[in-house]
Parts: sequence; structure tokens; C-alpha cells
Amino acid sequence: MTDYKILMSEAQKARQKSYSPYSHFRVGAALLTKSGKIYTGCNIENAAYTPTVCAERTAIFKAVSDGERDFEALAVIGGAEGETADFCAPCGVCRQVIAEFCNKDFKIILGNEDKFKAYTLDGLLPFAFTDKDL
Ligand code: THU
Repeated sequence: MTDYKILMSEAQKARQKSYSPYSHFRVGAALLTKSGKIYTGCNIENAAYTPTVCAERTAIFKAVSDGERDFEALAVIGGAEGETADFCAPCGVCRQVIAEFCNKDFKIILGNEDKFKAYTLDGLLPFAFTDKDL
């Protein structure tokens, strides 16, 4: 559990970099690799709206572009500006991106720095469409 606390605290630090002038909803994520490295990300919005990328995908894409593909857990923290929600669930697109690189028992830690819970990818994205379906 201590590892997850560190991961959540890294996600919170990453959240401070959120670029969210349109929604004012600020999200941070921290991805733990099996080799023990942590990649962080924040949401990055855009005036055209659809190019916006979520915190989770920022962290995953940073890691993959650095040659990392083996992941252990991902912590996510978010909420409206000036607040932290009890729980910030990854969107469907992010769940699909997680499913590209992680297996069913990959841990997704949701909550805040005081209280969080570990979910599995399979719990959040049952019947995922993956390369095995092609
Ligand atoms: N967002 C994330 O970064 N991750 C989530 O888990 C949910 C939503 C972002 C996208 C957008 O910048 C803002 O939060 C509002 O949807």
C-alpha cells in the first residue's frame, strides 16, 4: 500500500501541471513501471477541444515513447480547480489505451491522497477489445 501512496502523491504533483483553461478540471496521473520507474502526466486541453489529452494517456505515452511497455499500476487524481474529487475515473478512451499495454490484473488506483482504492483493469473495462480479438 505504501507504494500506492507514493504513486498517488506523484499523481497529485503532476496534477499541478494540468493545462485545463477550458474545463477547469485538473487531473494528474502516475504510472509505475515493472522496473520501478514512475512516469507522470497531466491533462492538456486545446482550444479546438478534441485534441485534448487526458492525464492518464499523457503518462502512458511518455513512458512508451521512452521505451517502457511493462506496467504495474497507475494512480489517478482529479477534480475541479481548487478541489479534489473523492474519485476520478479514467475515461473510456484511456481505459482502451491502458488495455493496449496492460493485462487484466493491472492495478488502477483511484481516490485522493487521503483515501484511495486499487481496482483492476478487468474491473474497469470488462470484455476489452484487444489484439487477441484481431
Ligand atoms: N480528464 C482526464 O485527464 N482524465 C480523466 O480521467 C477524466 C477526464 C480530463 C480531460 C479534460 O481535460 C478534463 O479532464 C475534463 O473532461
